[in-house]
Amino acid sequence: MVDSSIKIAPSVLSADFGNLARQVRDATDAGADMIHVDVMDGHFVPNISFGEPVINAVRAATDLPLNIHLMIENPDYFLPSLVKDHTDEVILHVEACKHLHRSVDYVKSLGAKVGVAINPATPISILEDVLEMVDIVLVMTVNPGFGGQSFIPRTLKKVHDLREIIDEYDYNVEIEVDGGIKSDFTASSSVESGATILVAGSAVYNSEISVKDAISAIRNTAGGVSYNPSN
Ligand code: DX5
Ligand code: ZN
Repeated sequence: MVDSSIKIAPSVLSADFGNLARQVRDATDAGADMIHVDVMDGHFVPNISFGEPVINAVRAATDLPLNIHLMIENPDYFLPSLVKDHTDEVILHVEACKHLHRSVDYVKSLGAKVGVAINPATPISILEDVLEMVDIVLVMTVNPGFGGQSFIPRTLKKVHDLREIIDEYDYNVEIEVDGGIKSDFTASSSVESGATILVAGSAVYNSEISVKDAISAIRNTAGGVSYNPSN
């Protein structure tokens, strides 16, 4: 029985940009739960990806929620032009926000769901005073900036510790993992540690198998396990 509470978020960073709309439709038709879009500015991370025009193209190709991962400095400046739909989920990096509480509030005031992301070297304690305000915590399982990197197992401890806190206080917060997730232990151990949203870029779009089969493979692996508090 596949666990339908686990959400799969294909990242178009690894898609064929020459056929972006088709690649987004492929993921939509294959049962993806949302489309993950990685905005990179060449300052917060050492890579540039895309901005508003490409996000608009993704939006036009699907009715799924967009899970917008902002790896940019001064995110507040860009928020009004990026948030366009009440189903949007906007993920801010705590390391990029001088006034995280204000930025979280700002996203909410624009009518979107809000998430906060932490890099592999950032402790979860930094989230203590905003956790009850957010919808999602994104735990980076690689250092942000590039697709196709290897999963960092040490990050699972943060997923586990966060899940304990969220459950203890009964917060309505999802845990998302991003980076190096495939249809193997990376997906299963993330779910066992307490993640509920799995981002996958290269495993979906740079694989030998079709987008549909790749998403099914991750869903089957993730659905074969469940959260295990003693993990
Ligand atoms: C990395 C991005 C990821 C990336 C994941 O900075 O945030 O969303 O697309 O790619 P894979 O799944 O290939 O690690
Ligand atoms: Zn991402």
